[in-house]
Amino acid sequence: MRALLLVFCAAAFALDLYAPAIQPEMVEQINSMNGVTWQAGMNGHFEGLNLKDVQRMLGVHPTPASERLPEKHHMKAISLPDEFDPRKEYGDRCPSTKMLRDQGGCGSCWAFAAAASITDRICIATKGAMNPIISAEDIVSCCSITHAPLECTSDKGCNGGQIKDPWSYWHSKGVVTGGLYGDTQTCQPYTIPPCEHHVDGPRPSCAGEDYKTPQCLRTCSNSSIDYKSDKTFGDKAYSVSGVQNIMQELVQHGPLSASLSVYEDFEAYKGGVYQHVKGSFLGLHAVSLIGYGVDNGTPYWLLKNSWNNDWGEGGFFRILRGKNECGIEGEIAGSVPM
Ligand SMILES: *[C@@H]1O[C@H](CO)[C@@H](O)[C@H](O)[C@H]1NC(C)=O
Repeated sequence: MRALLLVFCAAAFALDLYAPAIQPEMVEQINSMNGVTWQAGMNGHFEGLNLKDVQRMLGVHPTPASERLPEKHHMKAISLPDEFDPRKEYGDRCPSTKMLRDQGGCGSCWAFAAAASITDRICIATKGAMNPIISAEDIVSCCSITHAPLECTSDKGCNGGQIKDPWSYWHSKGVVTGGLYGDTQTCQPYTIPPCEHHVDGPRPSCAGEDYKTPQCLRTCSNSSIDYKSDKTFGDKAYSVSGVQNIMQELVQHGPLSASLSVYEDFEAYKGGVYQHVKGSFLGLHAVSLIGYGVDNGTPYWLLKNSWNNDWGEGGFFRILRGKNECGIEGEIAGSVPM
């Protein structure tokens, strides 16, 4: 009886959350498997972190089907290029397309996915005339059940939120500018420090503690910027589905918010076209879907993560396109600037 109970417990707690975020054995196994379209490695971003630290960053609350945003369909299909990368298309005029952010140890990915996408969309819509850096801080702190009940009833700051809500919040309340941690030129820069990895230090700055959600302040930290007039607004938020439809939306209007199921192998993604091959499910993550292409016959989506530049392909990644890999085509949200 006791033996049976032990077996039971062992199965239920098979995933040791205090194990390192990336295990070298898993990296080796993935890299020696046949037919894998991506390479694994010990990404510096997760040095010194455990699986629990990773889990804290995966802050997406899935949207129930009945609450989905209205669908946008492109009635008139355009002929699409085989490859689309906004960094190549707009990189000179819109430097934000190449800019990477760091959510730190907070489950604010849902706010970062929207902030990065909105930033690029404003620049693309104005053909580079305007490139304000949109604040993830404003979204994560104010688009919350306690502050904006109509748009953000399922959002809990660092404890996660729905990917569609920042877009509705942008429409009804507007979002101010906000750069990286330490920035002083924008209204509400991010106040949670990035994941720094001091080799001699005790542990990375984004490990171990539960970050408190920043306070919703309706002022700018830089007093020469006016909070109200710093806001930009979006049109009514919508969802996009269907591979062709999503591709057309990217080409015509720019990046979108997407979510995906994260497994242990995703932390070790170093390059190539990701497909889940190993490890346990850890949680749902939000990212900015920016483009698409084909690599050696494998169609992919191109995405920007909020794990700085020491993860993946310099902070970006590619994932299999057309098979709803890890749910990447399952919920996509966006809007256009007003
Ligand atoms: C405040 O923002 C303005 C406009 O971006 C900038 O010119 C100024 O240098 C900033 N002030 C400080 C103290 O950084």
